[in-house]
Amino acid sequence: MSFTADRLLLFGATGDLAQRMLLPSLCALHADELVHENLQIIGTARQDFDDAGFRNFARAALEKFLPADRRGSMATFLNRLRYQPLDATNAAGYQALAAKVGPIEQGLAIFLSTAPSLFEPTIAGLAASGLTGDKVRIGLEKPLGTCLESSREINDAVARAFPEERTFRIDHYLGKETVQNLLALRFANILFEPLWNGAHIDHVQITVAETVGLEGRVGFYDGAGALRDMVQNHMLQLLALVAMEPPANYNATAIRDEKVKVLRALRLIDPSETVTGQYRAGAIGGQGVPGYDEELGKPSDTETFVAIKAHLDNWRWKGVPFYLRTGKRLPERKTEIVVQFRHVPHSIFAGRGARSVPNRLVIGIQPEENITLSLMAKVPGLDRDGFRLREVPLDIAMADAFAGPTKRIAYERLLLDLIEGDQTLFVRRDEVEAQWDWIDGIRASWTTHELKPKPYAAGTWGPSAAIALTERDGVHWHE
Ligand code: BG6
Repeated sequence: MSFTADRLLLFGATGDLAQRMLLPSLCALHADELVHENLQIIGTARQDFDDAGFRNFARAALEKFLPADRRGSMATFLNRLRYQPLDATNAAGYQALAAKVGPIEQGLAIFLSTAPSLFEPTIAGLAASGLTGDKVRIGLEKPLGTCLESSREINDAVARAFPEERTFRIDHYLGKETVQNLLALRFANILFEPLWNGAHIDHVQITVAETVGLEGRVGFYDGAGALRDMVQNHMLQLLALVAMEPPANYNATAIRDEKVKVLRALRLIDPSETVTGQYRAGAIGGQGVPGYDEELGKPSDTETFVAIKAHLDNWRWKGVPFYLRTGKRLPERKTEIVVQFRHVPHSIFAGRGARSVPNRLVIGIQPEENITLSLMAKVPGLDRDGFRLREVPLDIAMADAFAGPTKRIAYERLLLDLIEGDQTLFVRRDEVEAQWDWIDGIRASWTTHELKPKPYAAGTWGPSAAIALTERDGVHWHE
């Protein structure tokens, strides 16, 4: 049922994500008059605030995390906020919460930004207090489980109160403007699609590199590791967008139908096609940083880096490896997709200077968005040695091409879509389960082969085995 919510109930309202992303995003949507004029935001968490206390808390978060030039409407935004303390595991508290939310007239959007262990009691409490029903939809922040089985348990618990059409699973990468632009690049241009297959593409690389370490998320990260924290969700979503067939429409069903086909075509990985690592002390940008176990305070076998050579068993991608790598404490923050095309079938140019390098499309997603297509060109001149070729970039910096519009963060898009009920950029149950199924296979093989992460110095591109993973195919990671 389609409705625009005029109430937003935010679980985990005092948490890190709320402070850094959710409250600033909502304030930005308010400032741009993108939300319902009567939208009320009810925060809930364990902390014992009243409305005024929560408004003060939110003001401090906005002053810290919202750029000064976007704080103009902060005072009127804060008036939208109310608060009800709640221990999510205590069923008795939900009636008071429902009373605080008040009658649901236009519609209610609920956002769970809490530990997944709280999802089940929260859903039960919402159901018992009447905070479900046709005019209520729910958004779920990751992690949605730690394996296929636990993800199914969460999905089942949610499904008991909310049908799939009213369940919005967040993968914040889908909210990134730059990630959505992948669809524009592929399906609003005729240039690429005829070449977008194994006959013309040699391989694809997807890198999500971070310079940060644990960032205080000790308990969570050590129980997750890079494979489950980054590959299971963000990287597989990027892979699905790169590899999917053209959908008939830009809508939730069409897009997600195509993505899930890709995810189901992922071949079970042999452990020799994965490399895991854990950072040791090193330096990033000239600054010394401690090793993972020093940050954690104990030794651990959790991987902070993973590289995988993935394969899709379908017609389009037969024989095309997808090299994925992600890690913490790498030399730079960079998310990019590299599409490496094949050689021309026959070179007409003779001579030493006329060797042609295959074309390459590099889609930079962050920190800056740019698209670079490398082309071969003739070096100008009257050389006696014959025709000389050189690789030249065809470069588009999106910041220059679109200098006007305000840069939006992912949660602005996603919260707006949650409020308005557009599921296109949210992950459907079958997708998330296909993702877990593949990841579980990798983890099982690591356990069978007793694989332990290899050390790498912070500030390097992971263990040397990650370089060997591609080099043995004659492929270099794009740097
Ligand atoms: C989160 C992970 O989902 O994504 C973090 O849990 C990671 O470990 C973050 O740092 C990266 O997001 P972004 O938007 O900074 O690339």
